[in-house]
Amino acid sequence: MLGSEGAGGPRRPTIVITGATSGVGLATARVLARQSVEVVIVGRPAGDPEGVSRSLREETHNPSVSWAVADLSRMEEVRRLATELLGRFPRLHGLLNNAGGIFFKRQETPEGIERTWALNVLSPFLLTNLLFPALRAAAPSRVVNVASEAHRMGRLRWNDLEGRARYSGWSAYNQSKLALILLTQELARRWDGTGVTVNAVHPGFVRSRFGHNNNGLSAGLLRFAERVFAIPPERAALAVAPLLTASEWEGVSGCYFVHGQVASPSRRAGDRAAAGRIFEALCRQVGLPAATPGQPFPLLGETSRIP
Ligand SMILES: NC(=O)c1ccc[n+]([C@@H]2O[C@H](COP(=O)([O-])OP(=O)(O)OC[C@H]3O[C@@H](n4cnc5c(N)ncnc54)[C@H](OP(=O)(O)O)[C@@H]3O)[C@@H](O)[C@H]2O)c1
Repeated sequence: MLGSEGAGGPRRPTIVITGATSGVGLATARVLARQSVEVVIVGRPAGDPEGVSRSLREETHNPSVSWAVADLSRMEEVRRLATELLGRFPRLHGLLNNAGGIFFKRQETPEGIERTWALNVLSPFLLTNLLFPALRAAAPSRVVNVASEAHRMGRLRWNDLEGRARYSGWSAYNQSKLALILLTQELARRWDGTGVTVNAVHPGFVRSRFGHNNNGLSAGLLRFAERVFAIPPERAALAVAPLLTASEWEGVSGCYFVHGQVASPSRRAGDRAAAGRIFEALCRQVGLPAATPGQPFPLLGETSRIP
């Protein structure tokens, strides 16, 4: 179990979970709260993160479940959230980048970014990098990115990453999860030696609210398949939570997990050049200075320098 020895004995590890008001995130928060982890659940106001954290405190008898609010599809909100969390938690032992979604109709956020790309890729990239100082301060610490087996059907459309010319909800989703796995590996390389590990996980096909924001035939088919084939979020959480806390995975970084075990991602997800290229592209997009290849990310912690 992650954690640290303080003057008063062992301290609870602190783990931030995005998208923890429903589905995989909520179920994982519950598992970790039962393990006496200090859990910080992040959600949008409509998901009532305050009420969810209150319920979790009562249910698990863990008084250290707290909450923060952010719409993670907006980079301005991600920056504000990072500043808030760094102020509240100078040391973080874990970050579960779980919030994500699929959008069958192309939408842009108020910042003009395609919503899938913003929520599933840019947001975890920016949040992870901004929280790195607190993660490094608590090392050994862990970042886990919730990806998907859907990445196997993903392709990076380098000239049209945000589907301006041609858009399909599934293509955008598959691409986003491919990008997330590539980023996971690139971060693992850059963070080598820092004590902060980063891995990606497929939670399974889960009966959650995933896709319920959509209408139409594709959305109907997804809900039908979910009723018939999907596993409950509690089962997914049992595969996700150990990646954040189990001693078995301490020091393991840059891996992709399926069913609780290390798995090989697709050939495209193993493309090292593509990982570096996507990293640089995201740095430019969110206004972080590009890093020197082979070096840890350069700016971490200096949020004031970031526009
Ligand atoms: N379900 C599956 O079969 C499956 C399979 C593979 C991977 N995944 C991945 O697993 C992750 C969790 O999905 P899930 O199945 O648990 O779906 P879910 O029940 O829809 O949960 C998604 C969570 O993300 C939050 N979220 C969505 N948009 C957000 C935003 N703009 N800002 C902040 N939070 C936001 C949601 O909060 P709100 O209450 O505010 O909407 C919710 O708490 C996703 O990354 C998904 O891609 C799911």
